[in-house]
Amino acid sequence: MTGLKRPFAEMAGTGRYIPAKVLSNADLEKIVDTTDQWIMERTGIRERHIASEGETIACMGEIACRQVLEATGVSVEEVDGLVVGTASPDRLLPSQACDLQKTLGAVNAAAFDVSAACTSFVYGVSVAEGMIAGGTAKNVLVVGAERLSTITDYNDRGTCILFGDGVGATLVRASSDGKRGILSTYLKSDGRLGDLLYRQSGGANEPPSEKMAKERSYFLRMAGREVFKHAVRSMADACDQALTRAGLTSDQVDLLIPHQANIRIIEATAKHAGMPMDRVYVNIEKYGNTSSASIPIALDECVRSGRVGPGAVVLMVGFGGGFTWGSTVVRW
Ligand code: UT7
Repeated sequence: MTGLKRPFAEMAGTGRYIPAKVLSNADLEKIVDTTDQWIMERTGIRERHIASEGETIACMGEIACRQVLEATGVSVEEVDGLVVGTASPDRLLPSQACDLQKTLGAVNAAAFDVSAACTSFVYGVSVAEGMIAGGTAKNVLVVGAERLSTITDYNDRGTCILFGDGVGATLVRASSDGKRGILSTYLKSDGRLGDLLYRQSGGANEPPSEKMAKERSYFLRMAGREVFKHAVRSMADACDQALTRAGLTSDQVDLLIPHQANIRIIEATAKHAGMPMDRVYVNIEKYGNTSSASIPIALDECVRSGRVGPGAVVLMVGFGGGFTWGSTVVRW
């Protein structure tokens, strides 16, 4: 999008849905060989929320989207784009976005998914911004939604301590005053690192089978230490790129909202960006890693608590399986 005068699109309104059921570190101590102390020290996570039966992504997404519509005064009929980022859709076909479109009643929307693992929300915002700039749509809901508990192996202590469920959403529309809005976006991926975080079976190459059930290869697998290293590197790159593209330095940023994957990754990212932790939003203790939902959930908390108000400059940075990473700078 270089060459176009920014900002031409803004994020307006936010919403979130967090399932009520809590899975604490103490609960996990009863399931796998781990301790609250280990989890807290290595990840910063104390508890995560888990969807109950019936709390589908479509249901949770509807609630988050209705909050966005209420905050913006946009009617559901006016929504003409619906972009969903998820790695744990309710079903594989049709897209999660189409199932959410039906539940929400967004009859005039073009609905589709973006798939960039934990970076999906940032990818979705960038796609929505492009739809606004290209005149394809006027009101695009962007949703990050996960029910990771359904693809997490609760026999695997290396992953089950990390993930939680939830949904966050925002609306992308034309900048209302030509000042507030998306100042830059940056997207990157490296497919050579795909085997660091993946689900082996259940797709077309290895369809569901008895072997899959026996080997539990339907569940998410991760090379934690390797992911950690690349995460630190890619989050640093994402910070640098978004700021350079926005023509800003980190001291001009009011708040950094990083993907909530691990407190140590967040601290390393903040250090690289030169942002003191009091200008970094952290809620990982409560929710764990909710993948594509983590940034929009955090954004909603910040907006509703007044931490992000009119004029605030916010840097959002994510990374995830793929490997994917990306960032955006927004003037709220
Ligand atoms: O959104 C992107 C998703 N992924 C991530 O962001 C994950 C990034 N990676 C991480 O957050 C960290 O690598 C983990 C939290 C997953 C693991 O922390 P670590 O400090 O990298 O630990 P490690 O894998 O190097 O394991 C250290 C030790 C091992 O024992 P030995 O071999 O030293 O005896 C593990 O077996 O800790 C052991 N371990 C555990 N111990 C208690 C691994 N998981 C656990 C556990 N409880 N849950």
